[in-house]
Formats: sequence, structure tokens, C-alpha cells
Amino acid sequence: MKVVMIGAGYVGLVSGSCFAEFGANVTCVDLDQAKIDRLKAGGIPIYEPGLEDLVARNVAAGRLAFTTDLAGAVSEADLVFIAVGTPTRRGDGHADLAYVYAAAEDIAKNLQGYTVIVDKSTVPVGTARQVERIVREANPQADFDVASNPEFLREGAAISDFMRPDRVVLGVESERAEALLRDLYRPLNLIEAPILVTNLESAELIKYASNAFLATKISFINEMSQLCEAVGADVHAIAKGMGLDGRIGKKFLHAGPGYGGSCFPKDTLALVRIAQEHGVASRIVESVVEVNASQKAQMVKKIRSALGGSESGKTIAVLGLTFKPETDDMRDAPALSILPPLCDKGAKIQAHDPQGMAEAKHMLPASVQYFDSAYAAIAGADAVVLMTEWNEYRGLSANKIKELMAGKVFVDLRNVYEPAAMRAAGFEYCGVGR
Ligand code: UDX
Repeated sequence: MKVVMIGAGYVGLVSGSCFAEFGANVTCVDLDQAKIDRLKAGGIPIYEPGLEDLVARNVAAGRLAFTTDLAGAVSEADLVFIAVGTPTRRGDGHADLAYVYAAAEDIAKNLQGYTVIVDKSTVPVGTARQVERIVREANPQADFDVASNPEFLREGAAISDFMRPDRVVLGVESERAEALLRDLYRPLNLIEAPILVTNLESAELIKYASNAFLATKISFINEMSQLCEAVGADVHAIAKGMGLDGRIGKKFLHAGPGYGGSCFPKDTLALVRIAQEHGVASRIVESVVEVNASQKAQMVKKIRSALGGSESGKTIAVLGLTFKPETDDMRDAPALSILPPLCDKGAKIQAHDPQGMAEAKHMLPASVQYFDSAYAAIAGADAVVLMTEWNEYRGLSANKIKELMAGKVFVDLRNVYEPAAMRAAGFEYCGVGR
């Protein structure tokens, strides 16, 4: 089976190499010549655990190739996946579909023989039908079907999520296309991964609804964390007590500095816009977005008050900058909202992140200083702020931190450490909702 992946970004590259691992013959196409050259030379443009080996193995086996030649690749394909970016459009919060529609036009002109065109990018409800129209108009003779196959990959765990998914969602309305897609995913039958087949619009909405629901769980527990602080409850106990109810489930109930990343912020906003366009209220999702913004703002206040009411002239060591561990992705990272106001008020930031510093340098205020180890960042600090729960920050030596620091304040925005133990060790410790 010949598969073409248009867009060698995060989703395209991970999905393409995983399909190759399943045994398909995959060509990843991207307009960016530099990116394709780098991939051909064995370089991986993003940090994702296991991806480099997976790509190398499948390239060596002759199942995975990279090209900028869309026409050549598409003309031979059985399945063409659209995995281009859908950023939030400036100004109105809509997903920007320019790249998706451009890809549809390019595909249309080069179709030969029966081909299934599959949306893998997260796109507003109705996009697959729009892609169908574009292709039909551009090439009335083409023999094709359009399908929607949303991805549910978490950064940092993308390969195992792809190989062991909770479910595969296929929005597909023709038996021929369904058979091809089922064949592509056949290796997942071994682990009995559920495959849900539905219409195009439902598949598109499942993706948004899932992400918005997960974002809701996070904003809910973050709101509870503020109440916990006010009444003297412990948000860990609340999350555990709630999560033991099987109907609620224990996952995605970790209070923290607010969700970030390339999906939740973009998809919640897009869902609100989609609902508005259809004249439907989405009050819950709107509140989730607001609560997330206020959670980030609250973290600035928390750090300020831990420093005795003012950050001016204080040195703050920040551990972790990316929106979560095991990624170098800084998109919508809470650090981007929390650190600039502290810098504005005269704080001196000493930052460390295992993977995100190169990216962060372009996005954070120029005054932020970067260090190549956590301890180097901590040296001389009045306060330590644990922003992202990288594993290497879980086992820091309390004694060493205390020796290196000038002050005693430890603000743990991910609740990695036990409050009682940290206080016993001599820190002025503050977590989130504990
Ligand atoms: C998410 C979805 O999980 C995935 O299914 C979808 O396809 C893309 O979006 P990802 O953005 O990689 O994946 O990260 P995820 O692990 O879900 O975390 C998102 C954000 O929520 C992070 O900033 C994380 O720190 C935060 N989070 C997550 C919490 O604050 N608390 C939690 O309990 C869980």
C-alpha cells in the first residue's frame, strides 16, 4: 500500500513513520526544502522520544522516504493524508485552513487512479466536505473519496500513543475507502484497538470534543486548586478522591499552571468559534478558556506573594520552560505568560530546560538568562519556580538547592514535591492547591 503524508511536521512525521512501521510504503512530502534535506540526511526537526530510531529504521528498510515532489508522490498513492498545520488565525480565533485547502488543490491536480484523501490535521467540522468540493472542482474526472482520521497523539508519548491507541476514529462514507483505511491500520487488530467508523462531521467533532473535555478536566481541577488554597484542602486528595469514581477517572486531574501546547489552547478556541458559527452556545468551553488564562495570571501572583509581595530586584530560578516534559515545544507554554510580567516588574530570571531553551530564547524577554543545568540556574536565586515537571527535577537534592540558593522560597507549580517534606527541609514551600 502506498501512503503519502503531506506535511512533515509533528503529526505528519510521527504518523508517516508509524504507518511505515506498520508495513506501508510511505512518502512524506513537505514544501520546506531545508526540512526535507535534513530528514534525508537522517536529521529530525523535532524532539520526540524514539522518533529518530523509528525514522532511521524505516528509511533503511526502504519503507519511508522524503521529498518535495508532491506531484510524483500523489500520482502513485493509494492514500494521501493531509497533515499540514492549522494554526489559530490572527484576530478571530478560527483555525487557519489555507494550508489544508492549498494541499487539496495540489492533490487534485495529481490524482491518478482511485485514491483516498484523508484529513489528519485537526480541522473545523465541515472541512473534509470542503476538501471534497475543492478536489471535485479542480479535477472533475478524479476517482477519489475523502475521509477524516483525527490523531490523538500526545507530544512526548506520540509513538506509543500511535502504536497503542485507545481508539482509531475513521470518518469515512464509502466501503472502498473504509476497506483501505482498515487495511492500513490492520496491525492494530493484534492489540484489539477499537476502530470507530462514523461520518465525516462526527469524526471531525470527536477530536475537538475530546480535547475540549480534557481541557475542561484540567481547568476544573485548577479552579478547585484555588478553592483548596482558600479553605485549607489539599488538591491532591481532592483529585484522588474524585478519580477513584470510575465515572470521573483519575487522569487529567493534575492541578498546575494551566494547560498549554499546540492542541488544547488552539482547539478549545476553535470549538468556541465553530459553535458560534452554527448559532450554538458553548458556555462550558468558553469558561474553560477563561479559567486557563486566569490560572496563568494567578501563578504570577503566587510567585509574587511567595517573594513577600514584590519580585522587583529578586533572582528567580525557573526550572522547565516547555509546556510539558519530553518535548522541546514552547507553543502556548505557561512560561510565556508567567515570566514576562515578572521580568517587567524587575525580576531577574535564571532559566533551565532540558530541551526547550533554544526555542525559548526567541519567545521570552531578552533579559532571561539560560543555564545548562538546574543547579547552575538555582545558584544565587531568591526563589526556585518549578514550571515543568521534567524527570530530572523530581530528584533534586534539597540540601544542594539550599546551599546554592540565596533565599528559601520554592514555588512548585506542578506539585512535584511533598509540602511537609519540603518545609521540614527548611524551604518556604508553596504548591498549587495544597
Ligand atoms: C493533547 C492531547 O492529549 C492529545 O490527545 C491531542 O491529540 C493533542 O493535545 P499534548 O498537547 O501533547 O496532547 O499534551 P497533554 O499531555 O495532553 O498536555 C496538555 C497540557 O495540559 C500540558 O500543558 C500539560 O501540562 C497540561 N496538563 C495535562 C495539566 O495541566 N494537567 C493534567 O492533568 C494534564
